[in-house]
Amino acid sequence: MNPKRLEGQIAWISGGASGMGEATAQLFAEEGARVAVVDIQAERGKKLVEEITAHGGEAIFHECDVAREDAVRQSIEKTVAHFGGLQIIVNCAGVVHVVELHEYSEEEWDQLMGVNVKSIFFSIKHGYPHLCKNQRSYMVNIGSVGSFIGQGLTPAYITSKHAVLGLSRSIALDYAAEGLRCNCVCPGITDTPMLRYHLSTTPDPEATLANRLSRVPTGVAITPMDIARAVRYLSCEDSAGVTGTSLVVDGAYITPAEWETVGQTKFMEPS
Ligand SMILES: NC(=O)c1ccc[n+]([C@@H]2O[C@H](COP(=O)([O-])OP(=O)(O)OC[C@H]3O[C@@H](n4cnc5c(N)ncnc54)[C@H](O)[C@@H]3O)[C@@H](O)[C@H]2O)c1
Repeated sequence: MNPKRLEGQIAWISGGASGMGEATAQLFAEEGARVAVVDIQAERGKKLVEEITAHGGEAIFHECDVAREDAVRQSIEKTVAHFGGLQIIVNCAGVVHVVELHEYSEEEWDQLMGVNVKSIFFSIKHGYPHLCKNQRSYMVNIGSVGSFIGQGLTPAYITSKHAVLGLSRSIALDYAAEGLRCNCVCPGITDTPMLRYHLSTTPDPEATLANRLSRVPTGVAITPMDIARAVRYLSCEDSAGVTGTSLVVDGAYITPAEWETVGQTKFMEPS
């Protein structure tokens, strides 16, 4: 059996109560990390911590709005006080608004940018004093295929995801001397509550999903655990030397200019 990859590590995971953040918290705990699950969804977050604990892992939950600097500062400080350090920051928290710009308010724009982008600034600002005490530390930010391309009806979201990639590259440069590696995981169509919300804004969500997946060469949605494994890779020395880059996990969704998946692929069968 492989030794646990994250033994002795302490991880702060925003958006940890749901979707890919939840899968990351579960996987990290299985791999021996002690995990702070950070989210605004208290009920889900506490339930996850109970599950992790029941499986022999170590986790705590912090109810925290990551768009607020003071809340992020307090959550990071509490994590360090509780577990005794900090080696890994994973910024998974995110929101999507499906609306055209002429119908969008300044408050909505600011709220989305606060959660998707400013939260990363706050996490490095308040995480740095702790991360720099380690020989090696890791930050993984969740971008999107929308970090590279446009998408209809989500202009603020797409702007924010381009910013996540730029910010990740900048952090990688500025903190490399301190032993920090910072990378961006860019998911494609991933089956989480956020995807289900996005689909629910269309007249026929299942038909919309089938139509979108017909443009994915593998023909299937990415799973939250697929993303969690990519995050794990970038959060340990398996990825030594990798920093300031992006790992696209999208079933080759953005590889072709045009594509139609017809019939079955082996990815549609149980592995
Ligand atoms: N699902 C997809 O297809 C997809 C594709 C590309 C990128 N992403 C990105 O993946 C990340 C995770 O999203 P997901 O798909 O797992 O969705 P999700 O909705 O399941 O998870 C997002 C989490 O962020 C939390 N959150 C929202 N606002 C917050 C705030 N102010 N403070 C703290 N937590 C907050 C939510 O409560 C939720 O638990 C997001 O950054 C999202 O933009 C998702």
